[in-house]
Amino acid sequence: MKISFCCNVTPPEPWLIDLRAALPQAFVTVWSRGDAPADYAVVWAPPQQFFDEQSQLKAVFSMGAGVDALLKLRLPPASLLVRLDDAGMAVQMAEYVCHAVIRHFREFDVTAGDVQHGLWAQRPVRRRADYPVGVLGLGVLGARVATALTQFEIPVLGWSRSARALPGVRGYSGAAQFHDFLAATRILVCLLPLTDETRDLLNRDTLSRLQPGAYVINVARGAHLVDEDLLALLDSGQLAGATLDVFRTEPLPADHAFWRHPAITLTPHTSARTLRADSVAQIAGKILALQRGASVAGVVNLEQGY
Ligand code: NAP
Ligand code: GLV
Repeated sequence: MKISFCCNVTPPEPWLIDLRAALPQAFVTVWSRGDAPADYAVVWAPPQQFFDEQSQLKAVFSMGAGVDALLKLRLPPASLLVRLDDAGMAVQMAEYVCHAVIRHFREFDVTAGDVQHGLWAQRPVRRRADYPVGVLGLGVLGARVATALTQFEIPVLGWSRSARALPGVRGYSGAAQFHDFLAATRILVCLLPLTDETRDLLNRDTLSRLQPGAYVINVARGAHLVDEDLLALLDSGQLAGATLDVFRTEPLPADHAFWRHPAITLTPHTSARTLRADSVAQIAGKILALQRGASVAGVVNLEQGY
């Protein structure tokens, strides 16, 4: 069995070593133009030429959970596209979002500023009931985040395409319940995949439907959010602030207004990192399952786009 590795954002050698250790029977190489056909591919942001040449792949394994960039390419018609299914990302995402929610709800950012100025200033106590958190997307990551948030006794709501029942989470589904979900949300967390249906979903109209003084946390993809609409709503005072981990252009251009906006906290696409050991173990397990003719989790539905 041959595995081709194609990724130019991380040094390949540690991945090759781990893949070879997990699948000693496999021949694992870094792809280069003109290579012989491989059976499986492990990729992040490959060039179109990779798929044009490797048109016989049985399965393509994404080194991330989101596959929106891969779906812009022409994929081999007969190969499965398999995304990372948690692989250590869900706990990181839960840490990140809980931190952002609590930092905003408890005003730890304001207190940190006070302390920097030598001020001893206790903030008025806020009621949890006044800060319902709505999670867009209740998949592998969104469900973990929503469940983690319930531990803090904050009201938690979730929105997904199909109805999902999670203990302690008030579920909404589909377009018909979207506006009700927004109207009941004060802190909005985006954990949707980027698809034709979800692109630009966080815009002036939808964000205006949130409770007054709402807070936005985008950890999914930059193209879910219309940047100018967020800035306008922050500047008008309708929104209280935002924590953003993902951007339309990454790295975020130096002249982008998000860098300097006082109500925006930003991080460099770091909320849930790909963990090599967990990812290799998952991918190797799935390759062995596919070799046995078994089905695997995380196969992308090309019609739905996630
Ligand atoms: P997932 O398991 O596929 O879950 C996607 C969720 O979104 C599902 O609940 C799905 O509904 C819902 N959804 C999709 N389209 C919808 C629509 N049109 N209307 C309503 N709900 C819709 O994905 P995941 O593993 O949780 O990952 C989510 C995204 O997080 C990824 O696609 C990626 O972009 C992003 N991500 C970011 C980072 C980072 O570091 N910032 C790291 C990893 C992933 P159903 O349950 O009904 O299918
Ligand atoms: C990261 O953004 C991922 O999709 O895994």
